[in-house]
Amino acid sequence: MFTRINLTTMKRLMALTAGLLVLLVLMGTSHAEDRIPGPRYDDQGQLIRADGWRQWVFIGAPLTPNELNDGHASFPEFHNVYIEPVAYAHFVNTGQFPNGTMIAKELLSVGDTEAVSGSGYFQGDFQGLEFTVKDTERFPDEPGGWTYYSFGHELPYADVAKAFPTDACAACHEAAADYDMVFIQYYPILKAVDPK
Ligand code: HEC
Repeated sequence: MFTRINLTTMKRLMALTAGLLVLLVLMGTSHAEDRIPGPRYDDQGQLIRADGWRQWVFIGAPLTPNELNDGHASFPEFHNVYIEPVAYAHFVNTGQFPNGTMIAKELLSVGDTEAVSGSGYFQGDFQGLEFTVKDTERFPDEPGGWTYYSFGHELPYADVAKAFPTDACAACHEAAADYDMVFIQYYPILKAVDPK
């Protein structure tokens, strides 16, 4: 009898400990999820390429083909654009891009122009990777805190990239993008967001 009570008490204690552990793990996780994982930089301040951008939230694929630009588009490739998911969730909730927002733009050549579905533009090969990152604390002097990077045009892409001078990229974004330096006018997936 005595042993049985002890056993029951032991079991209760173990259940309680397990419960507490689960609670602690959950608290740790939700704390981590409140933060924007954000960009990482090396010792020289170069942006370290974040992996997994093709699994981020896909927001659009603008295309400026040569045929519509007198045969010479500045960027004749598709631009597949993705936003980091925690930043996207924050945007959905608040309508703001938080500090730490990363947006990736991967260039893809125009491949086939004929398919069984008809004539058109179909994506070919990966041809380059650019990022923009918002961080008003780290870059208070850049317009909107956004900086711009290229990881090159060859696979494998570079591991790190230096921020471009403001005139090279940010100036055009500042002048022509509809919302906080981002060309949201071309991303219906972001335009459809209606924060509560
Ligand atoms: C002449 C204007 C212009 C310049 C200069 C420019 N961009 Fe953009 N950028 C655009 C436009 C327009 C879009 C959206 C449509 C598209 O992709 O064609 C865009 C989209 C982007 C996006 C996707 C997120 C967003 O803000 O919409 C990234 C990332 C980007 N550009 C990086 C760069 C980088 C890096 C440079 C400098 C090397 C640069 N851009 C220079 C016009 C410009």
